[in-house]
Amino acid sequence: MGGGRQPQARVGARLIGAMLPAPDPPTIPPVQSRSDSALELRKALGQFATGVTVVTTRAADGSPVGLTVNSFTSVSLEPPLMLWCLGRDAASFDAFRLSERHLINVLAAEQLDIAKRFAARGGDKFAGVQWSATDTGLPRLAGCTAWFECAIRSRTRRATT
Ligand SMILES: Cc1cc2nc3c(=O)[nH]c(=O)nc-3n(C[C@H](O)[C@H](O)[C@H](O)COP(=O)(O)O)c2cc1C
Repeated sequence: MGGGRQPQARVGARLIGAMLPAPDPPTIPPVQSRSDSALELRKALGQFATGVTVVTTRAADGSPVGLTVNSFTSVSLEPPLMLWCLGRDAASFDAFRLSERHLINVLAAEQLDIAKRFAARGGDKFAGVQWSATDTGLPRLAGCTAWFECAIRSRTRRATT
């Protein structure tokens, strides 16, 4: 993926970003954990404070799609690269798999209701939410503190079991 396409900085907070490389990842040995409990692991990870984003795109039929994401991080400024992780079980998985672009909407502190709404599985999350389309058609949520418009540079798969 990418085929030598170079990331380009665009106006303001609009960046061409990425997810990380390697279509066929090497086999990774099972992770050694001091706890067998996914719940405990989630609780411990919850101690790491992050910002919250809603990542949006368009499904193949043109409908807006989005989900709450806190795995978002900046990989590099030059070239501008960003990373986020999408769970295989997400209802929006196929929309993101088929889409070459997406918008990272960085939520403001008062947008807890938006974070909750987009953390629900499937359904029309955009009903009653203020949003507009960017000039490339991506759903842009109103009231966010920053937006990053990204083109996929590369994707990688990591098994969860
Ligand atoms: C604060 C927060 C952060 C989240 N971060 C992620 C994430 O980084 N990646 C992910 O795939 N799901 C994440 N989720 C879970 C998804 O938002 C949730 O699974 C949602 O149902 C996915 O929407 P979909 O099933 O309609 O695609 C997060 C949820 C919350 C509340």
